[in-house]
Amino acid sequence: MLLGRRQEQQELARALASAREGRSAVVALVGEAGIGKSALLDAVAADARGMRILRARGIESEGAVPFGGLLELVRPALAVLDRIPRPQAAALESALALRPGVAHERFAVGAAAVSLVRLAVMWASGNILLVNHAAESWRFAYDGTRGI
Ligand SMILES: Nc1ncnc2c1ncn2[C@@H]1O[C@H](COP(=O)(O)OP(=O)(O)OP(=O)(O)O)[C@@H](O)[C@H]1O
Ligand SMILES: [Mg+2]
Repeated sequence: MLLGRRQEQQELARALASAREGRSAVVALVGEAGIGKSALLDAVAADARGMRILRARGIESEGAVPFGGLLELVRPALAVLDRIPRPQAAALESALALRPGVAHERFAVGAAAVSLVRLAVMWASGNILLVNHAAESWRFAYDGTRGI
């Protein structure tokens, strides 16, 4: 039970409802450490019954490991890795240390992650909730407190 978060929970519930109807939504939760971002994400994940959830919790000590959080996020979708364009799959596999080599191509890695998640949506034949507890440390671009 979250105290004093009705507005934020309503906003997240709207994003979830929109995703269920096939319209994607992005919500960025921004705030000081301990303010309750993860608690809100846990609540929204609990409400996402029937949706496949890809989640990165972000472990502080692994902050310096390149693409460490990305592996956590896309791990359940790796089952369909062989179905994305080969160069993207290769870049992602290198980035995630699933094969030898060093990932230099950040664009290819990003494109691969997007392809993989898009494909995972079809593979799940439903909706996907991406939950990232450490987006700020991923240098994700966001505009204010609410995304697209
Ligand atoms: N609205 C709330 N009502 C009751 N307890 C809350 C609420 N928000 C957060 N808490 C509690 O406060 C503590 C810190 O919250 P949380 O871990 O969600 O913060 P955070 O913003 O994710 O912090 P960090 O930036 O360090 O990851 C947790 O024990 C959580 O259960
Ligand atoms: Mg947190």
